[in-house]
Amino acid sequence: MDRENTEIDSIFEIAKSTRENAYAPYSGFKVGAAARLHGTGTIIGACNVENVSYGATVCAERNVVFAAVAQTGAADLEDLVIVTDAHPPAVPCALCLQVLQEFCSPDLRIHLADLSGVRSEVRLRELLPQPFSSFP
Ligand code: THU
Repeated sequence: MDRENTEIDSIFEIAKSTRENAYAPYSGFKVGAAARLHGTGTIIGACNVENVSYGATVCAERNVVFAAVAQTGAADLEDLVIVTDAHPPAVPCALCLQVLQEFCSPDLRIHLADLSGVRSEVRLRELLPQPFSSFP
């Protein structure tokens, strides 16, 4: 396995283990996400956290971004791995894409995984080609 694959595998393992902490009593759908921050080896993992007031739920991907900002003051993610037990693997929701584009390059690599490993890779710009980015 080359270095790049080994690094993605490390991020996958953190996303998968963080998924176990998901608080998803309403949907039963656990999501784990983890990302390496640009320019450092730091990997940050997070999970979805639901609420009885359903709209207060926060997805795993947004929790990665918010944790990165809280811990480092930035969230320029290089590789984001998302783990679910869905087949095909789940892609980030539109709210999460909008939050990701606030902090990350459109070239951000998003790796979609199930519990066995990464199944596909897509760029942020492919999932959100025309983000909302300003208002008059
Ligand atoms: N969820 C995520 O964590 N990420 C997504 O991109 C989509 C959905 C969570 C939210 C909720 O806890 C559960 O999955 C079902 O929608």
